[in-house]
Amino acid sequence: MADLDSVLACLDLNLDRSVGRLSDLLRIPSISTDPAYAAECQRAAEYLAGDLAAIGFQAAVRETPGHPMVVAHHDGPEGAPHVLFYGHYDVQPVDPIEEWTSPPFEPEIHEMSDGSRRIVARGSADDKGQLMTFVEACRAFKAETGGLPCKVTIFLEGEEESGSPSLVPFLEANKAELSADVALVCDTNMWDRQTPAISTGLRGLVGEEVVIKAANRDLHSGYYGGAARNPIHVLTTILGEMHDADGRVTIPGFYDGVGEVPEEVLKSWEDLGLSEAEFLGSVGLKTPAGEKGRTVLEQTWSRPTAEVNGISGGYTGKGFKTVIPAEAFAKVSFRLVFDQDPDKIRAAFRKFVEDRLPDDCTVEFHPHGGSGAIQLPFDSPWLEKTRAALSDEWPKPAVMIGMGGSIPVVGEFKSRLGMESLLVGFGLGDDAIHSPNEKYEMTSFQKGQRSWARILAALGR
Ligand code: BES
Ligand code: MN
Repeated sequence: MADLDSVLACLDLNLDRSVGRLSDLLRIPSISTDPAYAAECQRAAEYLAGDLAAIGFQAAVRETPGHPMVVAHHDGPEGAPHVLFYGHYDVQPVDPIEEWTSPPFEPEIHEMSDGSRRIVARGSADDKGQLMTFVEACRAFKAETGGLPCKVTIFLEGEEESGSPSLVPFLEANKAELSADVALVCDTNMWDRQTPAISTGLRGLVGEEVVIKAANRDLHSGYYGGAARNPIHVLTTILGEMHDADGRVTIPGFYDGVGEVPEEVLKSWEDLGLSEAEFLGSVGLKTPAGEKGRTVLEQTWSRPTAEVNGISGGYTGKGFKTVIPAEAFAKVSFRLVFDQDPDKIRAAFRKFVEDRLPDDCTVEFHPHGGSGAIQLPFDSPWLEKTRAALSDEWPKPAVMIGMGGSIPVVGEFKSRLGMESLLVGFGLGDDAIHSPNEKYEMTSFQKGQRSWARILAALGR
């Protein structure tokens, strides 16, 4: 306990320095989905491996066919558990850039009128700030006690935001090295500013890009209009048919494997006391748009979705052009729950499109990752220790929540390495991850570091 107290004091004392280190990392534009930033991803990996080596980890940048991984090892006391910490150093693209109030890769500390402070930059919350909370906790343990309370492996990915193409081969090739007693994942949210959370479920994700082609070139819409097939019409008609009037997805077989949340879990969600009006109101909406007869928490945590994430075709520049385009594109994703099978969902969607394709059209599909939903056990001993440690740090006791987002690695840890994960993160709903002006609260950063120190101590005890 004396050790833990001095580690916590060390973290507080060095907060400014840790903000400096995070800022250095945030200045590296490690956008994984855009090949133009490959060298920056490499640089972020090298920065992190260097920092972990400086703390005393055996750290290395590990090449993959895509962006590199960082793997670092540190011993623990005899008999203490071995934890694997996972985070990702890659970030989402910044567009629309004109909506940022400060340049996305020039981190700034903003002081708010309520006295709170935040770090504004792409990746501050997702996931660089979050992963550094754990790294800082390790640094303070090393400085104060010379060691760590658990054996720790740190595993950082650089392709999480772009479908993790290298992840499975890397896990398979390094199974023994990456297997631990439990995985700790810091890439999720708190319930609210006062209330820490352990996420016990995540939705899965299937990504598909669709291209529909008709004529062999763009056509004059007067000369050919009325006779020529318009691929934008074909695409939008098909995508429009994916939902019925009650918000249900109409793709045959889509709901195979979808279960209902147990009564007691639904009750615990109700007890969280979410204001649906506030949840939607904070982003300028007011009417839940999804499946009828479900609460917002059910809609986002336990129901599957089909979403169009992007669509284009024809002339979208300034002014006007009368054209029937030769092609139309869309990026479509599905959030999966329970036992929905990513491969079957992908196949069912493709068939749905092909069955509706008129004459003179062809379709191409490009897959973008697929992972099933995750449900973690409610009764693991890791969970109880972590919950208690979190409750010691924050004003309110920790709660168990669901999470609408996806972290594909969690499923792979389970199926390939037989490892459960503990999902503990300090993000907030208004962090604007994937959006302009992403931020991480200073309280998330500071108390996140302190939380990991407490969790590591508790797991090691
Ligand atoms: N950190 C997010 C997941 C998340 C979202 C946690 C919202 C908490 C709240 C993660 O980095 C992410 O964005 N994942 C992608 C996965 C995809 C690109 C394979 C997602 O959910 O869209
Ligand atoms: Mn993330």
